[in-house]
Amino acid sequence: MKIAVLGAAGGIGQALSLLLKVQLPAGSELSLYDVAPVVPGVAVDLSHIPTDVKVQGYGKDDLADALTGCDIVLIPAGVPRKPGMDRSDLFNINAGIVRNLVDAIADNCPEACTCIITNPVNTTVAIAAEALKAKGVYNKNKLFGVTTLDVIRSETFVGNLKGLNPANVHVPVIGGHSGTTILPLLSQVQGVDFTDEEVASLTTRIQNAGTEVVEAKAGGGSATLSMGHAAARFCLSLVDAMRGENVVEYTYVETNSDDAEFFAHPVRLGKNGVEEILSYGELSEFEENAKNAMLEGLRSDIAMGVKFVTG
Ligand SMILES: NC(=O)c1ccc[n+]([C@@H]2O[C@H](COP(=O)([O-])OP(=O)(O)OC[C@H]3O[C@@H](n4cnc5c(N)ncnc54)[C@H](O)[C@@H]3O)[C@@H](O)[C@H]2O)c1
Repeated sequence: MKIAVLGAAGGIGQALSLLLKVQLPAGSELSLYDVAPVVPGVAVDLSHIPTDVKVQGYGKDDLADALTGCDIVLIPAGVPRKPGMDRSDLFNINAGIVRNLVDAIADNCPEACTCIITNPVNTTVAIAAEALKAKGVYNKNKLFGVTTLDVIRSETFVGNLKGLNPANVHVPVIGGHSGTTILPLLSQVQGVDFTDEEVASLTTRIQNAGTEVVEAKAGGGSATLSMGHAAARFCLSLVDAMRGENVVEYTYVETNSDDAEFFAHPVRLGKNGVEEILSYGELSEFEENAKNAMLEGLRSDIAMGVKFVTG
C-alpha cells in the first residue's frame, strides 16, 4: 500500500506522517510531499524510526513522482485559521491549492482514494469532485472529507462529562465540518442519558471545538495533533478496509440524498473505498431541527466549491 501526504511538512502533516510511520502495516510506503523546503528533512527524520514502512520526501517540483502508484492520498495542505477567522475565510487560498493537488492526483494516480483535510472541508471536497470530473476520472466512492476530528472530540467531551473512558464512547457525527453543519447525534450514544441542557451545551461545544484550539494557540494555528490522530485513524480504517476488513467510519461523502449532495454519514468502507452509505438512523427532535436549520448553509458551501471549478 502506498500512501501520500500532501502538505506533509505542516502541523497536521508531520503529526499524521509520524503516526502513519509507526502504525501502517509492514511493507507500506509513505510518500511525503510539500512545497516547504524542509520536507526532505521530515522524511529523513521519520525514516530513522525502526518500522517496515518506507518513507520518501518530495519537494515542490516532484508532485508527480510523489503520487505515482498511490492507493490513498491525504491532503492537509493549505493555511489554517487564526483567531477571529471562520473556516470559510480560508477559501481564497485553499481552494486553489486543493484544485491543483487534485488535478495532479487525476493525472498520476486517478484510482487512488483521496481524503481531504484542508478547510473549508464542506467546500474543498466539492472542489475536488468537480476537478476530478473535469479530468474524467471522478469516482464518488473514492473521495472523502475527513470529519473524524468531530467524532473524536465528541467522544472525549462526552466521556469527560459522564466520567467514562472516552476510548469506549462512540458518538455519531453527521452533516459537514463547520459550525452548525457539525451535528453530533447524542441521542444515539449507547448507555448514556443527557438532559436537554447537556445536549444543547455539548452540541455547541462540539461545533465550536476547533475555535477553542485556535484561540488557545493564540495565532499559532489550529488543531494539528488531535487532527493528525484523527486523520491517521481514518486512513488506517481505509487501509484495513482495502485489505478486506469490515470497517465503518463517519465521513463526508457524496450521497445525493435529500439532505445535501455531500453529507457525513456512517459509511461501510471496502476494497474500493465506499462500499455502502449507511443510514444515520432516527434523529431526536432537537437533532432534526438542528439538521433542517443547517442544510441551506451546507448546500451553499457545496455550491461555492462547484462554482469555483465550473465557473
Ligand atoms: N478537517 C479537519 O478537521 C481539519 C482540522 C484542522 C485543520 N484543518 C485544515 O488543515 C489544513 C492544514 O492545517 P495545518 O495546521 O497543518 O497548517 P500548516 O500551515 O501547519 O501546514 C500546511 C502545510 O501545507 C503546505 N502547503 C501549502 N501549499 C501547498 C501546496 N500547494 N502543496 C503542498 N503543500 C502545501 C505548507 O507548506 C505547510 O507545510 C488547514 O486548511 C486547516 O484549516 C482541517
